[in-house]
Amino acid sequence: MSLADIGFRLMRPFLETGDAERAHALTLAALKYLPVRPATQAEERLETVQFGLQFPNPLGLAAGFDKNGDVIDQTLSLGFGFVEVGTTTPLPQVGNAKPRLFRLREDEAVINRMGFNNSGHQAMHLALMNRSRGGIVGVNIGANKDSPDRLADFAIGVTQFAAVADYLTINISSPNTPGLRNLQSRKELEQLLGIILATQAKISRQAPVFLKIAPDLSLEELADIAAVAAGKVSAIIVSNTTTSRLGLRSPLAMESGGLSGRPLFDLSTVQLARLHVMTNGAMPLIGVGGICDANSAWMKICAGASLLQLYTALVFSGPALIPKIVAGLAKRVSDNGYRHYRDAVGVDAHAIIEQADAHQRGKGT
Ligand code: FNR
Repeated sequence: MSLADIGFRLMRPFLETGDAERAHALTLAALKYLPVRPATQAEERLETVQFGLQFPNPLGLAAGFDKNGDVIDQTLSLGFGFVEVGTTTPLPQVGNAKPRLFRLREDEAVINRMGFNNSGHQAMHLALMNRSRGGIVGVNIGANKDSPDRLADFAIGVTQFAAVADYLTINISSPNTPGLRNLQSRKELEQLLGIILATQAKISRQAPVFLKIAPDLSLEELADIAAVAAGKVSAIIVSNTTTSRLGLRSPLAMESGGLSGRPLFDLSTVQLARLHVMTNGAMPLIGVGGICDANSAWMKICAGASLLQLYTALVFSGPALIPKIVAGLAKRVSDNGYRHYRDAVGVDAHAIIEQADAHQRGKGT
Protein backbone atom coordinates (compact mmCIF):
# COMPACT_ATOMS: atom_id res chain seq x y z
CA MET A 1 0.00 0.00 0.00
CA SER A 2 1.41 3.39 -0.95
CA LEU A 3 1.89 6.28 1.46
CA ALA A 4 -0.82 8.23 -0.36
CA ASP A 5 -3.26 5.38 0.10
CA ILE A 6 -2.52 5.04 3.81
CA GLY A 7 -3.09 8.78 4.14
CA PHE A 8 -6.39 8.54 2.25
CA ARG A 9 -7.60 5.73 4.49
CA LEU A 10 -6.69 7.63 7.65
CA MET A 11 -8.37 10.78 6.40
CA ARG A 12 -11.41 9.02 4.95
CA PRO A 13 -13.77 9.54 7.93
CA PHE A 14 -13.03 13.28 7.82
CA LEU A 15 -13.33 13.44 4.03
CA GLU A 16 -16.66 11.66 3.94
CA THR A 17 -18.44 13.67 6.57
CA GLY A 18 -18.95 17.39 6.57
CA ASP A 19 -18.40 19.92 3.88
CA ALA A 20 -17.16 18.55 0.53
CA GLU A 21 -15.14 21.62 -0.34
CA ARG A 22 -13.29 21.54 2.98
CA ALA A 23 -12.56 17.88 2.39
CA HIS A 24 -11.06 18.78 -1.00
CA ALA A 25 -8.92 21.52 0.54
CA LEU A 26 -7.74 19.01 3.16
CA THR A 27 -6.84 16.52 0.44
CA LEU A 28 -4.79 19.12 -1.44
CA ALA A 29 -3.04 20.15 1.78
CA ALA A 30 -2.19 16.51 2.58
CA LEU A 31 -0.98 15.86 -0.96
CA LYS A 32 1.56 18.66 -0.60
CA TYR A 33 3.35 16.48 1.96
CA LEU A 34 3.44 13.47 -0.31
CA PRO A 35 7.01 12.64 -1.35
CA VAL A 36 7.56 13.37 -5.03
CA ARG A 37 8.52 10.16 -6.80
CA PRO A 38 10.04 9.61 -10.22
CA ALA A 39 8.00 7.80 -12.84
CA THR A 40 8.00 4.02 -12.61
CA GLN A 41 8.87 1.82 -15.59
CA ALA A 42 6.10 2.22 -18.17
CA GLU A 43 4.22 -0.76 -19.63
CA GLU A 44 5.00 -1.06 -23.32
CA ARG A 45 1.35 -1.89 -24.04
CA LEU A 46 0.27 1.43 -22.55
CA GLU A 47 3.08 3.81 -23.43
CA THR A 48 2.15 6.18 -26.21
CA VAL A 49 3.54 9.12 -28.14
CA GLN A 50 0.91 11.65 -29.20
CA PHE A 51 1.22 15.34 -30.10
CA GLY A 52 4.99 14.88 -29.77
CA LEU A 53 4.54 13.98 -26.08
CA GLN A 54 5.51 10.67 -24.52
CA PHE A 55 2.72 9.45 -22.21
CA PRO A 56 3.79 6.61 -19.84
CA ASN A 57 0.13 5.50 -19.72
CA PRO A 58 -3.12 6.93 -21.09
CA LEU A 59 -4.81 7.77 -17.77
CA GLY A 60 -4.78 11.45 -16.81
CA LEU A 61 -6.14 13.59 -14.00
CA ALA A 62 -9.02 15.76 -15.25
CA ALA A 63 -9.20 19.52 -14.75
CA GLY A 64 -10.75 20.95 -11.61
CA PHE A 65 -8.94 18.84 -9.03
CA ASP A 66 -5.83 21.03 -8.99
CA LYS A 67 -7.17 24.40 -10.10
CA ASN A 68 -3.99 26.35 -9.26
CA GLY A 69 -1.25 23.83 -9.95
CA ASP A 70 -0.56 23.35 -6.24
CA VAL A 71 0.15 19.61 -6.36
CA ILE A 72 1.39 18.88 -9.89
CA ASP A 73 4.43 16.82 -8.91
CA GLN A 74 2.44 14.93 -6.28
CA THR A 75 -0.49 13.99 -8.54
CA LEU A 76 1.96 12.81 -11.19
CA SER A 77 3.61 10.73 -8.46
CA LEU A 78 0.29 8.93 -7.88
CA GLY A 79 0.77 7.16 -11.22
CA PHE A 80 -1.19 9.31 -13.66
CA GLY A 81 0.17 9.37 -17.21
CA PHE A 82 -0.50 13.12 -17.33
CA VAL A 83 -2.31 15.77 -15.34
CA GLU A 84 -4.40 18.74 -16.38
CA VAL A 85 -4.44 21.77 -14.09
CA GLY A 86 -6.97 24.62 -14.04
CA THR A 87 -9.36 25.94 -15.15
CA THR A 88 -7.30 29.08 -14.77
CA THR A 89 -8.57 32.54 -15.72
CA PRO A 90 -6.47 35.68 -16.38
CA LEU A 91 -7.53 37.32 -13.12
CA PRO A 92 -8.07 35.55 -9.81
CA GLN A 93 -11.75 35.03 -9.00
CA VAL A 94 -13.65 33.75 -5.99
CA GLY A 95 -16.27 31.69 -7.83
CA ASN A 96 -19.85 31.11 -6.76
CA ALA A 97 -21.30 31.34 -3.26
CA LYS A 98 -20.79 28.34 -0.97
CA PRO A 99 -21.94 25.62 -0.62
CA ARG A 100 -21.10 24.79 -4.24
CA LEU A 101 -19.73 21.23 -4.12
CA PHE A 102 -21.89 18.23 -3.24
CA ARG A 103 -21.08 14.52 -2.92
CA LEU A 104 -23.92 12.26 -4.05
CA ARG A 105 -22.75 9.15 -2.24
CA GLU A 106 -25.65 6.90 -3.32
CA ASP A 107 -24.86 7.69 -6.96
CA GLU A 108 -21.05 7.83 -6.73
CA ALA A 109 -21.38 11.26 -8.23
CA VAL A 110 -20.56 14.88 -7.51
CA ILE A 111 -22.44 18.06 -8.37
CA ASN A 112 -20.35 21.21 -8.53
CA ARG A 113 -21.11 24.82 -9.27
CA MET A 114 -17.70 26.16 -8.29
CA GLY A 115 -17.67 28.83 -11.01
CA PHE A 116 -13.94 28.83 -11.81
CA ASN A 117 -12.66 29.79 -8.37
CA ASN A 118 -8.93 30.13 -8.97
CA SER A 119 -5.87 32.23 -8.19
CA GLY A 120 -5.39 33.49 -11.76
CA HIS A 121 -2.74 33.10 -14.45
CA GLN A 122 0.18 34.55 -12.54
CA ALA A 123 -0.11 32.06 -9.68
CA MET A 124 -0.52 29.18 -12.12
CA HIS A 125 2.50 30.29 -14.12
CA LEU A 126 4.61 30.40 -10.98
CA ALA A 127 3.45 26.91 -9.99
CA LEU A 128 4.43 25.55 -13.39
CA MET A 129 7.85 27.17 -13.18
CA ASN A 130 8.45 25.59 -9.75
CA ARG A 131 7.91 21.97 -10.73
CA SER A 132 10.55 19.55 -9.54
CA ARG A 133 9.58 16.46 -11.49
CA GLY A 134 9.10 15.62 -15.16
CA GLY A 135 5.77 14.45 -16.56
CA ILE A 136 3.12 15.78 -18.90
CA VAL A 137 1.06 18.73 -17.69
CA GLY A 138 -1.75 20.39 -19.58
CA VAL A 139 -3.20 23.76 -18.61
CA ASN A 140 -6.94 24.22 -18.88
CA ILE A 141 -7.76 27.85 -19.66
CA GLY A 142 -11.00 29.78 -19.32
CA ALA A 143 -12.50 33.23 -19.22
CA ASN A 144 -13.22 35.44 -16.22
CA LYS A 145 -16.92 35.64 -15.41
CA ASP A 146 -16.98 39.44 -15.65
CA SER A 147 -14.57 39.74 -18.54
CA PRO A 148 -15.62 42.35 -21.11
CA ASP A 149 -14.06 40.15 -23.83
CA ARG A 150 -14.11 36.42 -23.14
CA LEU A 151 -12.43 35.50 -26.42
CA ALA A 152 -9.51 37.76 -25.50
CA ASP A 153 -9.20 35.91 -22.17
CA PHE A 154 -8.55 32.67 -24.06
CA ALA A 155 -5.96 34.39 -26.25
CA ILE A 156 -4.21 35.69 -23.10
CA GLY A 157 -4.14 32.13 -21.75
CA VAL A 158 -2.60 30.77 -24.95
CA THR A 159 0.18 33.36 -24.79
CA GLN A 160 0.72 33.02 -21.06
CA PHE A 161 1.17 29.25 -20.97
CA ALA A 162 2.52 28.32 -24.42
CA ALA A 163 6.07 27.96 -23.13
CA VAL A 164 5.32 26.16 -19.86
CA ALA A 165 2.44 23.81 -20.72
CA ASP A 166 2.68 20.54 -22.62
CA TYR A 167 -0.78 21.21 -23.99
CA LEU A 168 -3.57 23.74 -23.53
CA THR A 169 -7.25 22.97 -23.09
CA ILE A 170 -9.84 25.47 -24.21
CA ASN A 171 -12.69 25.04 -21.76
CA ILE A 172 -15.96 26.21 -23.28
CA SER A 173 -18.10 23.63 -21.56
CA SER A 174 -18.38 24.50 -17.88
CA PRO A 175 -22.06 24.91 -16.98
CA ASN A 176 -21.15 27.23 -14.11
CA THR A 177 -20.14 30.37 -15.99
CA PRO A 178 -23.31 31.78 -17.55
CA GLY A 179 -23.11 31.92 -21.36
CA LEU A 180 -19.78 30.07 -21.62
CA ARG A 181 -21.30 27.02 -23.29
CA ASN A 182 -22.63 29.26 -26.12
CA LEU A 183 -19.04 29.35 -27.40
CA GLN A 184 -19.67 25.79 -28.58
CA SER A 185 -22.07 27.02 -31.27
CA ARG A 186 -20.70 26.93 -34.82
CA LYS A 187 -20.27 30.65 -35.38
CA GLU A 188 -18.81 31.46 -31.99
CA LEU A 189 -16.47 28.46 -32.06
CA GLU A 190 -15.18 29.46 -35.51
CA GLN A 191 -14.45 32.91 -34.15
CA LEU A 192 -12.78 31.59 -30.98
CA LEU A 193 -10.56 29.10 -32.81
CA GLY A 194 -9.66 31.79 -35.36
CA ILE A 195 -8.42 34.02 -32.53
CA ILE A 196 -6.50 31.17 -30.94
CA LEU A 197 -4.76 30.26 -34.21
CA ALA A 198 -3.91 33.92 -34.85
CA THR A 199 -2.50 34.19 -31.32
CA GLN A 200 -0.40 31.07 -31.80
CA ALA A 201 0.98 32.42 -35.05
CA LYS A 202 2.49 35.30 -33.09
CA ILE A 203 4.37 33.24 -30.49
CA SER A 204 7.49 31.14 -30.90
CA ARG A 205 6.38 27.94 -29.13
CA GLN A 206 2.97 26.52 -29.97
CA ALA A 207 1.57 24.04 -27.46
CA PRO A 208 -1.01 21.60 -28.84
CA VAL A 209 -4.55 22.89 -28.24
CA PHE A 210 -7.35 20.63 -27.01
CA LEU A 211 -11.02 21.58 -26.94
CA LYS A 212 -13.20 20.44 -24.02
CA ILE A 213 -16.87 19.99 -24.79
CA ALA A 214 -20.09 19.33 -22.87
CA PRO A 215 -21.89 16.00 -23.01
CA ASP A 216 -25.25 17.70 -23.47
CA LEU A 217 -24.88 18.58 -27.17
CA SER A 218 -27.35 17.55 -29.87
CA LEU A 219 -26.17 15.49 -32.83
CA GLU A 220 -26.20 18.60 -34.97
CA GLU A 221 -24.14 20.59 -32.47
CA LEU A 222 -21.65 17.73 -32.19
CA ALA A 223 -21.32 17.56 -35.98
CA ASP A 224 -20.73 21.32 -36.11
CA ILE A 225 -17.94 21.02 -33.55
CA ALA A 226 -16.36 18.13 -35.46
CA ALA A 227 -16.40 20.20 -38.65
CA VAL A 228 -15.14 23.45 -37.13
CA ALA A 229 -12.44 21.82 -34.98
CA ALA A 230 -10.95 19.68 -37.77
CA GLY A 231 -7.43 20.86 -38.52
CA LYS A 232 -7.66 23.61 -35.89
CA VAL A 233 -7.24 21.70 -32.63
CA SER A 234 -5.07 18.69 -31.78
CA ALA A 235 -7.69 16.81 -29.74
CA ILE A 236 -11.17 17.04 -28.28
CA ILE A 237 -11.93 16.19 -24.64
CA VAL A 238 -15.30 14.47 -24.24
CA SER A 239 -16.60 15.54 -21.79
CA ASN A 240 -17.15 18.08 -19.08
CA THR A 241 -19.93 17.67 -16.49
CA THR A 242 -23.60 17.34 -17.46
CA THR A 243 -26.59 19.49 -16.58
CA SER A 244 -28.87 16.44 -16.89
CA ARG A 245 -30.08 14.62 -13.78
CA LEU A 246 -31.25 11.24 -15.05
CA GLY A 247 -31.75 8.35 -12.64
CA LEU A 248 -30.19 9.82 -9.50
CA ARG A 249 -31.13 8.58 -6.04
CA SER A 250 -29.37 11.06 -3.80
CA PRO A 251 -31.44 13.74 -2.02
CA LEU A 252 -28.88 16.26 -3.31
CA ALA A 253 -29.70 15.46 -6.95
CA MET A 254 -31.57 18.70 -7.50
CA GLU A 255 -28.66 20.95 -6.56
CA SER A 256 -27.77 23.05 -9.60
CA GLY A 257 -24.41 22.72 -11.33
CA GLY A 258 -22.52 20.09 -13.30
CA LEU A 259 -22.90 16.41 -12.51
CA SER A 260 -19.87 14.10 -12.73
CA GLY A 261 -19.02 10.53 -11.80
CA ARG A 262 -20.74 7.23 -12.47
CA PRO A 263 -24.08 8.61 -13.79
CA LEU A 264 -22.17 10.56 -16.46
CA PHE A 265 -20.53 7.47 -17.90
CA ASP A 266 -23.13 6.38 -20.46
CA LEU A 267 -23.91 9.84 -21.79
CA SER A 268 -20.26 10.87 -22.19
CA THR A 269 -19.27 7.51 -23.68
CA VAL A 270 -22.01 7.62 -26.33
CA GLN A 271 -20.98 11.17 -27.26
CA LEU A 272 -17.38 9.99 -27.47
CA ALA A 273 -18.35 7.14 -29.81
CA ARG A 274 -20.42 9.50 -31.96
CA LEU A 275 -17.57 11.96 -32.30
CA HIS A 276 -15.14 9.15 -33.12
CA VAL A 277 -17.39 8.03 -35.97
CA MET A 278 -18.12 11.59 -37.16
CA THR A 279 -14.40 12.32 -37.42
CA ASN A 280 -13.60 8.92 -38.98
CA GLY A 281 -11.23 8.27 -36.13
CA ALA A 282 -8.98 11.04 -37.41
CA MET A 283 -9.37 13.40 -34.44
CA PRO A 284 -7.68 12.21 -31.22
CA LEU A 285 -10.29 12.10 -28.47
CA ILE A 286 -9.83 12.16 -24.72
CA GLY A 287 -12.51 10.16 -22.91
CA VAL A 288 -13.69 11.58 -19.57
CA GLY A 289 -16.82 11.02 -17.52
CA GLY A 290 -17.56 8.33 -14.98
CA ILE A 291 -14.39 6.28 -15.29
CA CYS A 292 -14.26 4.41 -11.98
CA ASP A 293 -12.35 1.18 -12.68
CA ALA A 294 -10.35 -0.62 -15.37
CA ASN A 295 -13.50 -1.83 -17.06
CA SER A 296 -15.00 1.61 -17.57
CA ALA A 297 -11.58 2.92 -18.67
CA TRP A 298 -11.30 0.13 -21.24
CA MET A 299 -14.85 0.83 -22.50
CA LYS A 300 -13.86 4.45 -23.17
CA ILE A 301 -10.90 3.29 -25.25
CA CYS A 302 -13.13 0.92 -27.23
CA ALA A 303 -15.60 3.79 -27.73
CA GLY A 304 -12.90 5.95 -29.33
CA ALA A 305 -10.66 7.48 -26.65
CA SER A 306 -6.95 7.59 -27.30
CA LEU A 307 -6.36 9.13 -23.87
CA LEU A 308 -8.44 9.11 -20.66
CA GLN A 309 -9.06 11.34 -17.69
CA LEU A 310 -10.91 11.01 -14.40
CA TYR A 311 -11.68 13.07 -11.34
CA THR A 312 -14.77 12.02 -9.35
CA ALA A 313 -13.76 8.39 -8.81
CA LEU A 314 -10.74 9.69 -6.92
CA VAL A 315 -13.11 11.24 -4.37
CA PHE A 316 -14.76 7.90 -3.62
CA SER A 317 -11.90 5.43 -4.10
CA GLY A 318 -8.71 7.32 -3.28
CA PRO A 319 -5.34 7.27 -4.99
CA ALA A 320 -4.91 3.46 -4.95
CA LEU A 321 -7.39 3.46 -7.83
CA ILE A 322 -4.85 4.90 -10.28
CA PRO A 323 -2.27 2.06 -10.40
CA LYS A 324 -5.18 -0.39 -10.24
CA ILE A 325 -6.77 1.04 -13.39
CA VAL A 326 -3.42 1.25 -15.18
CA ALA A 327 -2.61 -2.39 -14.37
CA GLY A 328 -6.15 -3.44 -15.32
CA LEU A 329 -5.85 -1.72 -18.69
CA ALA A 330 -2.57 -3.49 -19.45
CA LYS A 331 -4.26 -6.79 -18.65
CA ARG A 332 -7.23 -6.05 -20.89
CA VAL A 333 -4.93 -5.25 -23.80
CA SER A 334 -3.40 -8.74 -23.58
CA ASP A 335 -6.64 -10.55 -22.63
CA ASN A 336 -8.28 -9.18 -25.76
CA GLY A 337 -5.40 -10.24 -27.98
CA TYR A 338 -4.03 -6.77 -28.71
CA ARG A 339 -0.38 -5.75 -28.67
CA HIS A 340 -1.07 -2.15 -27.68
CA TYR A 341 -4.13 -0.32 -26.39
CA ARG A 342 -4.13 1.88 -29.48
CA ASP A 343 -5.30 -1.14 -31.47
CA ALA A 344 -8.56 -1.11 -29.50
CA VAL A 345 -9.38 2.60 -29.92
CA GLY A 346 -12.89 2.89 -31.33
CA VAL A 347 -13.48 -0.81 -32.00
CA ASP A 348 -16.88 -0.65 -30.28
CA ALA A 349 -17.91 2.84 -31.43
CA HIS A 350 -20.54 1.69 -33.94
CA ALA A 351 -22.01 -0.88 -31.55
CA ILE A 352 -22.27 1.70 -28.76
CA ILE A 353 -24.09 4.15 -31.04
CA GLU A 354 -26.48 1.47 -32.33
CA GLN A 355 -27.31 0.42 -28.81
CA ALA A 356 -27.92 4.02 -27.71
CA ASP A 357 -30.13 4.70 -30.75
CA ALA A 358 -32.11 1.49 -30.17
CA HIS A 359 -32.61 2.49 -26.54
CA GLN A 360 -33.82 5.93 -27.65
CA ARG A 361 -36.26 4.40 -30.17
CA GLY A 362 -37.52 2.03 -27.49
CA LYS A 363 -38.26 4.97 -25.22
CA GLY A 364 -40.09 6.76 -28.05
CA THR A 365 -42.52 3.93 -28.74
C1 FNR B 1 -14.70 19.62 -12.56
N1 FNR B 1 -14.46 19.64 -13.93
C2 FNR B 1 -13.82 20.74 -14.48
N2 FNR B 1 -13.52 20.76 -15.82
C3 FNR B 1 -12.88 21.80 -16.37
O1 FNR B 1 -12.61 21.79 -17.56
N3 FNR B 1 -12.49 22.86 -15.59
C4 FNR B 1 -12.75 22.91 -14.25
O2 FNR B 1 -12.36 23.86 -13.58
C5 FNR B 1 -13.44 21.83 -13.67
N4 FNR B 1 -13.76 21.84 -12.34
C6 FNR B 1 -14.36 20.75 -11.76
C7 FNR B 1 -14.59 20.73 -10.40
C8 FNR B 1 -15.16 19.62 -9.81
C9 FNR B 1 -15.40 19.61 -8.33
C10 FNR B 1 -15.49 18.47 -10.60
C11 FNR B 1 -16.07 17.23 -9.97
C12 FNR B 1 -15.27 18.50 -11.95
C13 FNR B 1 -14.90 18.53 -14.80
C14 FNR B 1 -13.90 17.40 -14.84
O3 FNR B 1 -12.68 17.81 -15.37
C15 FNR B 1 -14.45 16.22 -15.69
O4 FNR B 1 -14.62 16.65 -17.01
C16 FNR B 1 -15.79 15.72 -15.15
O5 FNR B 1 -15.81 15.72 -13.76
C17 FNR B 1 -16.08 14.29 -15.64
O6 FNR B 1 -15.14 13.36 -15.19
P1 FNR B 1 -15.36 12.45 -13.88
O7 FNR B 1 -15.29 13.35 -12.72
O8 FNR B 1 -16.72 11.81 -14.02
O9 FNR B 1 -14.25 11.45 -13.90
